[in-house]
Amino acid sequence: MKILLLGSNGQLGWELQRALASIGQLVAYSREECNVEDFETLRKLIEQVSPDIVVNATAYTAVDKAENDVDKAYLVNAEAVKVMAEACEQEGAWLVHYSTDYVFDGLKKSPYTESDIPNPLNIYGQSKLMGEEYIRKICSKHIIFRTSWVFSTRGRNFLKSIINKASEVDTLQIIDNQYGNPTSAELLADVTANVLNKLGVRNCDSTFSGLYHLCCDGYTSWYAYAHYLLHRSQELGITRTLPSLIPVTWQ
Ligand SMILES: NC(=O)c1ccc[n+]([C@@H]2O[C@H](COP(=O)([O-])OP(=O)(O)OC[C@H]3O[C@@H](n4cnc5c(N)ncnc54)[C@H](OP(=O)(O)O)[C@@H]3O)[C@@H](O)[C@H]2O)c1
Repeated sequence: MKILLLGSNGQLGWELQRALASIGQLVAYSREECNVEDFETLRKLIEQVSPDIVVNATAYTAVDKAENDVDKAYLVNAEAVKVMAEACEQEGAWLVHYSTDYVFDGLKKSPYTESDIPNPLNIYGQSKLMGEEYIRKICSKHIIFRTSWVFSTRGRNFLKSIINKASEVDTLQIIDNQYGNPTSAELLADVTANVLNKLGVRNCDSTFSGLYHLCCDGYTSWYAYAHYLLHRSQELGITRTLPSLIPVTWQ
Protein backbone atom coordinates (compact mmCIF):
# COMPACT_ATOMS: atom_id res chain seq x y z
CA MET A 1 0.00 0.00 0.00
CA LYS A 2 1.56 3.29 -1.15
CA ILE A 3 0.65 6.38 0.88
CA LEU A 4 1.36 9.99 -0.09
CA LEU A 5 1.32 12.32 2.92
CA LEU A 6 1.07 16.07 2.33
CA GLY A 7 1.82 18.62 5.07
CA SER A 8 4.25 16.38 6.95
CA ASN A 9 5.60 19.15 9.23
CA GLY A 10 2.35 20.18 10.93
CA GLN A 11 1.10 18.95 14.31
CA LEU A 12 -0.85 16.14 12.69
CA GLY A 13 1.48 15.61 9.72
CA TRP A 14 4.37 14.92 12.06
CA GLU A 15 2.45 12.25 13.99
CA LEU A 16 1.14 10.78 10.73
CA GLN A 17 4.72 10.27 9.52
CA ARG A 18 5.29 8.05 12.53
CA ALA A 19 1.95 6.23 12.42
CA LEU A 20 1.69 5.64 8.66
CA ALA A 21 5.27 4.42 8.20
CA SER A 22 4.32 1.09 9.79
CA ILE A 23 1.37 0.31 7.53
CA GLY A 24 2.73 0.85 4.04
CA GLN A 25 5.24 2.55 1.77
CA LEU A 26 5.11 6.17 2.92
CA VAL A 27 6.12 9.13 0.76
CA ALA A 28 5.93 12.31 2.85
CA TYR A 29 6.09 15.92 1.63
CA SER A 30 6.37 19.09 3.69
CA ARG A 31 5.32 22.55 2.46
CA GLU A 32 8.90 23.17 1.25
CA GLU A 33 8.77 20.02 -0.87
CA CYS A 34 5.23 20.50 -2.17
CA ASN A 35 3.40 23.77 -1.80
CA VAL A 36 -0.22 22.82 -2.47
CA GLU A 37 -0.94 26.33 -3.78
CA ASP A 38 1.02 25.29 -6.87
CA PHE A 39 -1.80 23.26 -8.39
CA GLU A 40 0.16 21.98 -11.37
CA THR A 41 2.97 20.58 -9.21
CA LEU A 42 0.43 19.10 -6.82
CA ARG A 43 -1.48 17.38 -9.62
CA LYS A 44 1.73 16.05 -11.19
CA LEU A 45 3.03 14.78 -7.85
CA ILE A 46 -0.11 12.72 -7.27
CA GLU A 47 0.10 11.35 -10.83
CA GLN A 48 3.82 10.52 -10.51
CA VAL A 49 3.67 8.92 -7.08
CA SER A 50 0.45 7.13 -8.07
CA PRO A 51 -0.44 6.32 -4.45
CA ASP A 52 -3.22 4.09 -3.18
CA ILE A 53 -3.99 6.75 -0.58
CA VAL A 54 -3.35 10.49 -0.31
CA VAL A 55 -3.43 11.81 3.25
CA ASN A 56 -3.85 15.57 3.37
CA ALA A 57 -2.52 17.12 6.57
CA THR A 58 -2.05 20.56 4.97
CA ALA A 59 -4.31 23.39 6.04
CA TYR A 60 -4.43 27.11 6.59
CA THR A 61 -5.10 26.92 10.34
CA ALA A 62 -4.63 30.54 11.51
CA VAL A 63 -8.31 31.03 12.39
CA ASP A 64 -8.20 34.75 13.26
CA LYS A 65 -5.71 35.70 10.55
CA ALA A 66 -7.93 34.07 7.92
CA GLU A 67 -10.48 36.89 8.32
CA ASN A 68 -7.98 39.24 6.59
CA ASP A 69 -6.27 36.62 4.47
CA VAL A 70 -9.38 35.26 2.79
CA ASP A 71 -7.91 34.30 -0.60
CA LYS A 72 -5.07 32.33 0.95
CA ALA A 73 -7.39 30.48 3.33
CA TYR A 74 -9.65 29.42 0.42
CA LEU A 75 -6.63 28.55 -1.73
CA VAL A 76 -5.21 26.06 0.77
CA ASN A 77 -8.39 24.83 2.50
CA ALA A 78 -10.66 24.59 -0.53
CA GLU A 79 -9.10 25.02 -4.00
CA ALA A 80 -5.99 22.89 -3.36
CA VAL A 81 -8.25 20.25 -1.82
CA LYS A 82 -10.34 20.29 -5.00
CA VAL A 83 -7.19 19.55 -7.03
CA MET A 84 -6.35 16.66 -4.68
CA ALA A 85 -9.88 15.30 -5.03
CA GLU A 86 -9.73 15.46 -8.83
CA ALA A 87 -6.29 13.83 -8.99
CA CYS A 88 -7.29 11.07 -6.54
CA GLU A 89 -10.45 10.34 -8.50
CA GLN A 90 -8.41 10.12 -11.68
CA GLU A 91 -5.86 7.78 -10.07
CA GLY A 92 -8.50 5.68 -8.27
CA ALA A 93 -6.86 6.62 -4.94
CA TRP A 94 -8.42 7.21 -1.54
CA LEU A 95 -8.26 10.75 -0.19
CA VAL A 96 -8.04 11.15 3.58
CA HIS A 97 -8.69 14.68 4.80
CA TYR A 98 -9.22 16.50 8.09
CA SER A 99 -11.80 19.14 8.89
CA THR A 100 -12.97 21.09 11.88
CA ASP A 101 -15.73 21.84 14.37
CA TYR A 102 -15.61 25.41 12.99
CA VAL A 103 -17.97 24.23 10.23
CA PHE A 104 -20.70 24.58 12.89
CA ASP A 105 -22.08 27.74 14.49
CA GLY A 106 -21.76 26.40 18.04
CA LEU A 107 -25.39 27.09 18.94
CA LYS A 108 -26.33 23.44 19.52
CA LYS A 109 -26.50 22.53 23.20
CA SER A 110 -25.34 18.92 22.74
CA PRO A 111 -22.44 17.35 20.81
CA TYR A 112 -22.60 17.72 17.03
CA THR A 113 -23.06 14.62 14.89
CA GLU A 114 -22.24 13.95 11.25
CA SER A 115 -25.85 14.58 10.21
CA ASP A 116 -26.02 18.09 11.69
CA ILE A 117 -26.19 20.90 9.15
CA PRO A 118 -23.01 23.01 9.07
CA ASN A 119 -23.24 26.76 9.43
CA PRO A 120 -19.72 28.20 9.66
CA LEU A 121 -19.39 31.67 11.14
CA ASN A 122 -15.88 32.56 10.00
CA ILE A 123 -13.64 32.36 6.94
CA TYR A 124 -11.64 29.44 8.32
CA GLY A 125 -14.82 27.39 8.88
CA GLN A 126 -16.28 28.40 5.50
CA SER A 127 -13.09 27.53 3.62
CA LYS A 128 -12.80 24.16 5.39
CA LEU A 129 -16.46 23.37 4.61
CA MET A 130 -15.87 24.16 0.94
CA GLY A 131 -12.91 21.73 0.96
CA GLU A 132 -15.17 19.02 2.42
CA GLU A 133 -17.83 19.69 -0.21
CA TYR A 134 -15.37 19.43 -3.09
CA ILE A 135 -14.15 16.06 -1.82
CA ARG A 136 -17.64 14.66 -1.34
CA LYS A 137 -18.68 15.80 -4.81
CA ILE A 138 -15.55 14.82 -6.75
CA CYS A 139 -13.74 11.92 -5.06
CA SER A 140 -15.65 8.66 -4.72
CA LYS A 141 -13.18 7.09 -2.25
CA HIS A 142 -12.66 9.49 0.63
CA ILE A 143 -12.54 9.73 4.39
CA ILE A 144 -13.04 13.09 6.05
CA PHE A 145 -12.29 13.22 9.76
CA ARG A 146 -13.73 16.28 11.51
CA THR A 147 -11.87 17.01 14.71
CA SER A 148 -11.40 19.76 17.28
CA TRP A 149 -8.86 21.53 19.54
CA VAL A 150 -5.82 19.59 18.29
CA PHE A 151 -2.74 19.58 20.49
CA SER A 152 0.72 18.06 20.26
CA THR A 153 4.24 18.76 21.43
CA ARG A 154 4.92 20.29 18.03
CA GLY A 155 3.68 23.48 16.39
CA ARG A 156 1.23 26.03 17.75
CA ASN A 157 -1.72 25.12 19.94
CA PHE A 158 -3.72 26.35 22.94
CA LEU A 159 -1.94 24.05 25.39
CA LYS A 160 1.50 25.41 24.52
CA SER A 161 0.33 29.06 24.41
CA ILE A 162 -1.18 28.82 27.89
CA ILE A 163 1.91 27.19 29.37
CA ASN A 164 4.19 29.74 27.69
CA LYS A 165 2.07 32.64 28.92
CA ALA A 166 2.12 31.33 32.50
CA SER A 167 5.58 32.77 33.04
CA GLU A 168 4.89 36.05 31.21
CA VAL A 169 1.66 37.45 32.68
CA ASP A 170 -0.13 37.80 36.02
CA THR A 171 -3.67 37.40 34.72
CA LEU A 172 -5.23 35.67 31.75
CA GLN A 173 -8.73 36.25 30.35
CA ILE A 174 -10.15 33.04 28.92
CA ILE A 175 -13.50 32.35 27.23
CA ASP A 176 -15.74 30.18 29.37
CA ASN A 177 -18.77 29.69 27.12
CA GLN A 178 -17.17 27.85 24.17
CA TYR A 179 -16.88 24.10 24.45
CA GLY A 180 -14.84 21.49 22.60
CA ASN A 181 -12.86 18.28 22.85
CA PRO A 182 -9.08 18.62 23.16
CA THR A 183 -7.75 15.92 20.83
CA SER A 184 -4.15 14.83 20.48
CA ALA A 185 -2.53 14.71 17.06
CA GLU A 186 -1.08 11.39 18.19
CA LEU A 187 -4.56 9.89 18.61
CA LEU A 188 -5.74 11.25 15.24
CA ALA A 189 -2.69 9.76 13.52
CA ASP A 190 -3.06 6.37 15.22
CA VAL A 191 -6.76 6.12 14.36
CA THR A 192 -6.01 7.13 10.77
CA ALA A 193 -3.34 4.44 10.47
CA ASN A 194 -5.68 1.83 11.95
CA VAL A 195 -8.49 2.73 9.56
CA LEU A 196 -6.21 2.83 6.52
CA ASN A 197 -4.65 -0.48 7.44
CA LYS A 198 -8.11 -2.04 7.46
CA LEU A 199 -8.99 -0.40 4.13
CA GLY A 200 -5.75 -1.66 2.57
CA VAL A 201 -5.97 -5.17 3.97
CA ARG A 202 -9.56 -5.56 2.79
CA ASN A 203 -8.89 -3.81 -0.52
CA CYS A 204 -12.04 -1.80 0.10
CA ASP A 205 -14.29 -0.21 -2.45
CA SER A 206 -16.01 3.08 -1.69
CA THR A 207 -18.47 1.52 0.84
CA PHE A 208 -16.58 3.05 3.75
CA SER A 209 -16.31 6.43 2.09
CA GLY A 210 -17.68 9.25 4.17
CA LEU A 211 -17.49 11.88 6.85
CA TYR A 212 -16.60 10.91 10.42
CA HIS A 213 -16.37 12.98 13.59
CA LEU A 214 -13.16 12.02 15.39
CA CYS A 215 -12.15 13.54 18.69
CA CYS A 216 -11.45 12.53 22.27
CA ASP A 217 -14.30 11.73 24.60
CA GLY A 218 -15.79 14.29 26.98
CA TYR A 219 -15.77 18.05 26.56
CA THR A 220 -14.54 21.17 28.30
CA SER A 221 -14.55 24.97 27.99
CA TRP A 222 -11.45 27.00 27.09
CA TYR A 223 -11.50 28.34 30.66
CA ALA A 224 -11.68 24.91 32.33
CA TYR A 225 -9.03 23.61 29.92
CA ALA A 226 -6.67 26.49 30.77
CA HIS A 227 -7.34 26.00 34.50
CA TYR A 228 -6.43 22.32 34.24
CA LEU A 229 -3.32 23.00 32.13
CA LEU A 230 -1.93 25.66 34.47
CA HIS A 231 -2.47 23.64 37.63
CA ARG A 232 -1.18 20.42 36.12
CA SER A 233 1.92 22.07 34.66
CA GLN A 234 2.68 23.59 38.05
CA GLU A 235 2.25 20.21 39.76
CA LEU A 236 4.64 18.67 37.24
CA GLY A 237 7.18 21.47 37.74
CA ILE A 238 6.88 22.67 34.13
CA THR A 239 5.81 26.16 35.25
CA ARG A 240 6.56 27.97 38.51
CA THR A 241 4.05 30.81 38.47
CA LEU A 242 0.28 30.54 38.38
CA PRO A 243 -1.46 33.50 36.72
CA SER A 244 -5.01 34.24 37.85
CA LEU A 245 -7.62 33.22 35.33
CA ILE A 246 -10.57 35.47 34.52
CA PRO A 247 -13.51 33.83 32.76
CA VAL A 248 -14.95 35.94 29.94
CA THR A 249 -18.06 35.45 27.80
CA TRP A 250 -17.79 35.11 24.02
CA GLN A 251 -20.70 36.73 22.19
N1 LIG B 1 -5.21 22.72 15.13
C1 LIG B 1 -6.46 22.53 15.53
O1 LIG B 1 -6.84 22.87 16.66
C2 LIG B 1 -7.45 21.87 14.61
C3 LIG B 1 -8.78 21.72 15.04
C4 LIG B 1 -9.69 21.11 14.19
C5 LIG B 1 -9.28 20.64 12.95
N2 LIG B 1 -8.00 20.82 12.55
C6 LIG B 1 -7.62 20.32 11.22
O2 LIG B 1 -6.67 19.28 11.41
C7 LIG B 1 -5.74 19.29 10.33
C8 LIG B 1 -4.31 19.33 10.85
O3 LIG B 1 -4.14 20.53 11.61
P1 LIG B 1 -2.80 20.83 12.40
O4 LIG B 1 -3.18 21.22 13.76
O5 LIG B 1 -1.82 19.73 12.20
O6 LIG B 1 -2.32 22.14 11.61
P2 LIG B 1 -0.87 22.77 11.51
O7 LIG B 1 -0.02 22.32 12.63
O8 LIG B 1 -1.10 24.22 11.26
O9 LIG B 1 -0.31 22.09 10.18
C9 LIG B 1 -0.74 22.46 8.91
C10 LIG B 1 0.36 22.10 7.95
O10 LIG B 1 -0.05 22.55 6.64
C11 LIG B 1 1.08 23.10 6.03
N3 LIG B 1 0.69 24.04 4.98
C12 LIG B 1 0.06 25.23 5.10
N4 LIG B 1 -0.07 25.81 3.90
C13 LIG B 1 0.51 24.96 3.01
C14 LIG B 1 0.73 25.01 1.62
N5 LIG B 1 0.34 26.06 0.89
N6 LIG B 1 1.34 23.97 1.01
C15 LIG B 1 1.77 22.92 1.75
N7 LIG B 1 1.61 22.82 3.07
C16 LIG B 1 0.99 23.83 3.70
C17 LIG B 1 1.84 23.81 7.14
O11 LIG B 1 3.16 24.04 6.72
P3 LIG B 1 4.22 24.80 7.65
O12 LIG B 1 4.65 23.77 8.64
O13 LIG B 1 5.29 25.20 6.72
O14 LIG B 1 3.48 25.96 8.25
C18 LIG B 1 1.71 22.80 8.25
O15 LIG B 1 2.75 21.85 8.18
C19 LIG B 1 -6.13 20.49 9.45
O16 LIG B 1 -6.95 20.04 8.40
C20 LIG B 1 -6.93 21.37 10.37
O17 LIG B 1 -7.86 22.18 9.67
C21 LIG B 1 -7.06 21.40 13.36
